Amino acid sequence: MGRNVIVLGSQWGDEGKGKVVDLLTDRAHCVVRYQGGHNAGHTLVIDGKRTVLHLIPSGILREGVFCLIGNGVVVSPQALLQEMETLESNGVAVRQQLKISGACPLVLPYHKSMDIAREEKLGTKAIGTTRRGIAPAYEDKVARRAIKLMDLTRPEIFLEKLRDNLDYYNFLLTGYYQQPALDFGQVADEVLGDAQHIVPLIADIPALLNTFREEGKNILFEGAQGNALDVDQGAYPYVTSSNTTAGGAATGTGFGPLYFDEVMGITKAYTTRVGSGPMPTELLGEEGQLLAQRGNEFGSTTGRPRRCGWFDAPALRRAVYVNSMSSICLTKLDVLDAFDTIYLCTSYQLDGQALDAIPADSEMLARCQPVYEALPGWKTSTVGIAKYENLPENTRRYIERIEQIIQVPIDLISTGPDRKETIQRRNIF
Ligand code: GDP
Ligand code: IMO
Ligand code: MG
Repeated sequence: MGRNVIVLGSQWGDEGKGKVVDLLTDRAHCVVRYQGGHNAGHTLVIDGKRTVLHLIPSGILREGVFCLIGNGVVVSPQALLQEMETLESNGVAVRQQLKISGACPLVLPYHKSMDIAREEKLGTKAIGTTRRGIAPAYEDKVARRAIKLMDLTRPEIFLEKLRDNLDYYNFLLTGYYQQPALDFGQVADEVLGDAQHIVPLIADIPALLNTFREEGKNILFEGAQGNALDVDQGAYPYVTSSNTTAGGAATGTGFGPLYFDEVMGITKAYTTRVGSGPMPTELLGEEGQLLAQRGNEFGSTTGRPRRCGWFDAPALRRAVYVNSMSSICLTKLDVLDAFDTIYLCTSYQLDGQALDAIPADSEMLARCQPVYEALPGWKTSTVGIAKYENLPENTRRYIERIEQIIQVPIDLISTGPDRKETIQRRNIF
């Protein structure tokens, strides 16, 4: 029997999903992305060589591992092609490994213009999006006017839809946002040009996954962003526009919910967030700067500095039950090597009451005060340690305290960006 495992972010994204997915693909037949778009930035480091992936699943650097993009992902043909070409110039056989669902909604230039125009108009209330056009593309899908990847196989249908959509968006862009209109001919040529390279990769992803399942192959489902950014479960409106949570793996690929075996939550040993919105454990002083500097906390997609803070157990507690997490991978533990004392937020105070789990409402979340427990630091390097018993005693105490609070086993521990800088206590496959 093969095993079907979901690997997703349990915080606000950038937990190290790319590294962990790549590592776990040593036993997987295929990796499937199920939501998000090129707002994601997943970093892989193999023998010192760094690769950042945005749309292509993090199994692509393992020869022979199939990489699938499910219907829940919004695809920018331009961004995808660019990513394919960069990988190919590094000798990766992308076209032999990659298949994409024809049902993926496209992210087109007018989505990006809309994203930027809206953020500018929001001013101080901006979401702090990646400005890649993600929300407008998902809006089109739900509004049933999206142009889907499959439409690129029928140019006359594509051109008709593009004309209708451009009429609508140019009206909004020029009339409401006072921005320049986009040119129909230019957009059409650009997209049809890119399409030639992408259309041959279209496949029936639900059927393919079902075949792999019947053949007893191991399948890995790769999430983007994180639990707290889920459009339904996160603290709205400071979220992304897709279901980052485990349910998204079923709807975003066409894989039946009863076929999943495990859900692993990738969890940073502290907290980071990019963009606006409340973050109870955020550290605005020197400690936050030290975390940012040691963890090199700059966005893999936009290069923006990430906000940093202590570990937030209420955020993880909710993530555990919303996603039915059976396993946790704790990443970037080495970043904490320099601290005398490490603080762990165990609960929040809200209006005089204790809260165990993060509220999914930004007004409430903004009023939550973190309650901390202090643990002694270890003040010695843990970089690259690959055996649990070789970790300093205080490091093990920190890990075991988190395990005790969360009641989910920490099966993997990451002690550096490289694939091999990992402690595997249990293999999830
Ligand atoms: P993702 O979006 O969840 O895939 O995470 P990102 O790639 O955006 O951000 C994680 C960053 O941390 C990347 O630069 C990784 O190379 C790096 N990283 C991952 N695991 C570790 C770790 O255990 N220690 C350190 N120091 N860096 C890590
Ligand atoms: P990975 O997969 C961290 C954040 C943005 C913004 C909000 C909405 O690398 O973990 P969007 O462009 O999606 O409409 O922006 O979501 N965001 C991420 N933050 N990691 C990501 O991806 C993110 N993708 C989007 O910063 O706050
Ligand atoms: Mg990232």
